[in-house]
Amino acid sequence: MNGDAARDLAAGFIERGDTQSWFDALYKHAGRNFDVIPWADREMNVHLRDWCEREGRPAPGERVVVVGCGLGDDAEAMAARGAVVDAFDLSPEAIAWASERFPNSPVRYQAANLFAFRGSYELVVESYTLQAMPLEMRARAIEAVANLAAPGGEVIVICRGRAETDPPGELPWPLAPSDIQRFAAHGLATIAFEDFDDPYEPGKRRFRYHGRRA
Ligand SMILES: C[S@@+](CC[C@H](N)C(=O)[O-])C[C@H]1O[C@@H](n2cnc3c(N)ncnc32)[C@H](O)[C@@H]1O
Repeated sequence: MNGDAARDLAAGFIERGDTQSWFDALYKHAGRNFDVIPWADREMNVHLRDWCEREGRPAPGERVVVVGCGLGDDAEAMAARGAVVDAFDLSPEAIAWASERFPNSPVRYQAANLFAFRGSYELVVESYTLQAMPLEMRARAIEAVANLAAPGGEVIVICRGRAETDPPGELPWPLAPSDIQRFAAHGLATIAFEDFDDPYEPGKRRFRYHGRRA
């Protein structure tokens, strides 16, 4: 299944007013075939990797949570760099698959919904999950991501980006600068907001946001 087929599957659910169940359905449908999952790169997100290398993060022992962890590659990479990692995903199937892939992992995986998950972390990692959630959930989702940062804690977001005046587009729905600015309303000061053409996939506009709670 390519990205279009996954989008068709998602569209069927979304038309019925169910914007969240398609993830688990897609992971089940995949039957452990990575090729069916458009975002299953079997490696850490490259923009997260570049950030970690540039910033020397995470620090050993840093308490990290990975939001919408999917098949676990970001979480495993953070743990391999010495962080103490919790990782969660709405899809129980994704969590089962990630746990099978990494049976001896120190990462604590759990099936959980961003809107119900509670915790307080030094670093909150989000790659490509906000953009996969429908626009009507976006403000609440950004608040929920922000709320996972402890006092002095930080958030790193990697996502598709668009100009404020661009139409919202299709799944994955790119974030606008005003979406990123919402983190400030939830107590996060911007350390860096990078808006760039993806060097690995030219033509795709990306945002990388790094914020810190006062
Ligand atoms: C596009 S995938 C990206 C997965 C992973 N971050 C990656 O880059 O490989 C989005 C992930 O977010 C999860 N997700 C969607 N809505 C969620 C929610 N409300 N709470 C937790 N996870 C959610 C999906 O199940 C899916 O695994």
